[in-house]
Amino acid sequence: MLAQPGLPFDPSGIVLDRRQGLSRQLYQQLRCRILDGRISSGTRLPASRDLASVLGISRNSVVRTYDQLYAEGFIHGRVGAGTFVTLPEKLPLPEKLSTKLPTGLGAGLSTSLSTKPIQSTDDMVSPVWVNSAFGRLQQYHLPVPKAGPPKAFRVGIPAFDLFPFHVWSKLHAAFWRNPDIGRLGYGEAEGDPRLRELIAAYLRSSRGLSCSAEQIVITCGAQQAIGLCAQLLLEPGEAVAVENPGYRAAGFAFANAGAQLLGVPVDNHGMACAELEQAEACRLAYVTPAHQYPTGVTMSLGRRLELLAWAERRQGWIIEDDYDGEYRYTGAPLAPLAALDRSGRVIYVGTFAKVAFPALRLGYLVLPQQLVEPFRRRRAVDVRSSEVGTQAVMAEFIAQGHFQRHIRRMRRAALKRRDALLQHWPAGVVGCSPMPPIDAGLHVTIAVDNPEREAELVRLADTVDVEINPLSDYWLAGTQQSAGLVLGFAAVDEQVIEQAAKRLARAWF
Ligand SMILES: Cc1ncc(COP(=O)(O)O)c(C=O)c1O
Repeated sequence: MLAQPGLPFDPSGIVLDRRQGLSRQLYQQLRCRILDGRISSGTRLPASRDLASVLGISRNSVVRTYDQLYAEGFIHGRVGAGTFVTLPEKLPLPEKLSTKLPTGLGAGLSTSLSTKPIQSTDDMVSPVWVNSAFGRLQQYHLPVPKAGPPKAFRVGIPAFDLFPFHVWSKLHAAFWRNPDIGRLGYGEAEGDPRLRELIAAYLRSSRGLSCSAEQIVITCGAQQAIGLCAQLLLEPGEAVAVENPGYRAAGFAFANAGAQLLGVPVDNHGMACAELEQAEACRLAYVTPAHQYPTGVTMSLGRRLELLAWAERRQGWIIEDDYDGEYRYTGAPLAPLAALDRSGRVIYVGTFAKVAFPALRLGYLVLPQQLVEPFRRRRAVDVRSSEVGTQAVMAEFIAQGHFQRHIRRMRRAALKRRDALLQHWPAGVVGCSPMPPIDAGLHVTIAVDNPEREAELVRLADTVDVEINPLSDYWLAGTQQSAGLVLGFAAVDEQVIEQAAKRLARAWF
């Protein structure tokens, strides 16, 4: 039975294992109680000092827990009044949420992948369906990547100058010096078993995502993961909801599979999923909930639950692209949408591109159980299996602790580079909004008054050798509603950022 609002918080039953991270355990147990209704919306949580003393743990552990719950939208604070639980009451919680603790990506799923014909689209969408593979490529292809070493402010590039190549090359040499002959034939289409184990363990500890190695399929970057979803979860002509503005490479993968792109607006809570109700034939949604690409919005808890409920009602799928989740500057990475999924509707996509470097071409899917075999078979038909050395070396890199160390190094570096951008960015540029706060990710979007001014600023930046992406490029054709500048700040060091900002000031004033 769900708790009644206003019942006092009862900490009895919270059991913590002192050998493990206390704040993570407390966070998991509180989150679970909030989601299953044992702690109802509106309940006031004890002051951190009081809860710490009841549980016999340090106040810092409780503060860290509250910070994480706050960041994920489970609680809010009122100055002088205390800390309150804020789970949106009116939302239809995904079935079983009220009775069961999270156990992973779900079980007992419908295996139906059948499609329904499109019946209607509406004016929030921009239906586009060009009925030939070559025709679609004509319209939906990616620009040739920018060549050469990274420049300020190239988007999508992490601080890969900091990658420990000496460690990587030693691990590679060790693997190839005396390779296991048994591994040099055709490998598993789903990827190296050890790497899959290690990725599952990493996601369990860093994201609170309870998944097993059996659910993981290694891919050639996030793009191949998204491409597999496009091939397997869509029939030609079916609709797919994408954030608008959004990640073009994902939309293009769906469009090339013959899907209609339904551009759904993004507001301060993330994808406006109420609009999905009108698109009756849509059963697949692609989202970037931790850090919307490119606006930087974090999807609120209310929207997450709404989207999950939609997918459950439609027997549809949600593709969660967690491309830069490691980069959060105010606390631990946010728990993904997949960690809230009780009915196996979320396909989680991860990549090593933003922590290591894009050219590695290594990513993965975490799949609901019944999708694992179709994805494995499809991948076998497409590529047989991935190259053995990179997977084995990445597994060793993680097992020896280099990966976690490198993530910390990359986060520190991105933070310094972000600070350099905030410090040196020219203020008061005509037609340009002030720089927004940057709490996560490797890029920022700054609003500009109109597309004409946006184009002018981008062109002038180019004359002083500074790369800036126009926000216009991220809208589906014919749907643009705002303009802006999209800047990556992690690709180059603080000095280069400062110099680039000075050149911009000269070009723009
Ligand atoms: C939204 C989004 N998803 C995924 C990726 C990474 O894709 P991949 O792993 O294929 O390099 C990027 C890269 O910029 C991205 O912006």
